[in-house]
Amino acid sequence: MGSAQASLWYFVFYIGILKVHTERKSCLRGVWHVDRKKLISIRDLQMKFGMHHVLKGLDLDVFQGDIIGYIGPNGAGKSTTIKIILGLIEEYTGEVEIFGEPLRQEKLHHKRRIGYVPESADMYEQLTPSEYLSFTGTLYGIKPAVANEKAFQLLRLLEMEDVFHQRIDGFSKGMRQKVLIVSSLLHNPDIIFLDEPLNGLDTNSVSVMKQIFKQLATQGKTIFFSSHMMELVENVSNRIVLLSDGKVAADASFAELQAQNQEGSLEGIFNQLTGFKEQENIVESFVNYVVNQDTKRAGYA
Ligand SMILES: Nc1ncnc2c1ncn2[C@@H]1O[C@H](COP(=O)(O)OP(=O)(O)OP(=O)(O)O)[C@@H](O)[C@H]1O
Ligand SMILES: [Mg+2]
Repeated sequence: MGSAQASLWYFVFYIGILKVHTERKSCLRGVWHVDRKKLISIRDLQMKFGMHHVLKGLDLDVFQGDIIGYIGPNGAGKSTTIKIILGLIEEYTGEVEIFGEPLRQEKLHHKRRIGYVPESADMYEQLTPSEYLSFTGTLYGIKPAVANEKAFQLLRLLEMEDVFHQRIDGFSKGMRQKVLIVSSLLHNPDIIFLDEPLNGLDTNSVSVMKQIFKQLATQGKTIFFSSHMMELVENVSNRIVLLSDGKVAADASFAELQAQNQEGSLEGIFNQLTGFKEQENIVESFVNYVVNQDTKRAGYA
């Protein structure tokens, strides 16, 4: 090898090392964008319900393998954002691309790559999990017997074996939630949207689901979930996206948010970034109203 050739080879090698190093550093920081496939791109997303301007110019990219914890105050527009990405709300303005194509031209085969756990779902309550999941499986093109067997195995692992053939209308909140979670995963989607997914689940189930989310991400799945359970968001997400006043107010890993805001807990960071300083006054006033003698007299006279 001539010296010019050798120099060129070293240069190419060095660039390679530098690239790997940069990717590693970026990955260690928690937000690993380099060379990962962009699955969703949102630009200047705006949504109004009548005069109520909910989303006011949202910009967000979602990459393969992300576990995004989408947080924000009640009514901030988290569920609205998810419904827009899923094509359930169409009256938005701005640009949304999914799997590299504009959402408005979304193809049916894209739907098969998406799983969804809604915030509140109307389930066919007279059905059993076996019937319900065989049915939802067929909507994604899975043969009923295959869907049924997979659903049984997944629910068995979530300790729902005994109720697989019982009607959903007798289920507790957590049991229903497990059926919905299995329903969202049955067709092995690439990206899973979960709107408050672990509400109602007991501590052991939450702990199992946290690990499941993490392992799904290491298998290349992308998870986008909204939650008010700060401990869950802190522990599971590699990116935390905070929606406040219709826009993304923060988009970083938990460690980065801690460093930027000099706060130890996500609850503290959330309060700080949403400008919430009134806790003590609110608590005092609330309790005063509840126990206030005059109110009692007025109410029960
Ligand atoms: N179909 C609708 N018609 C009218 N207003 C709506 C509709 N859907 C949502 N909104 C309003 O949009 C705002 C955002 O609602 P959204 O459900 O997206 O909030 P969120 O961030 O998911 O809140 P939460 O944390 O309580 O689940 C709320 O003020 C809500 O009242
Ligand atoms: Mg919501």
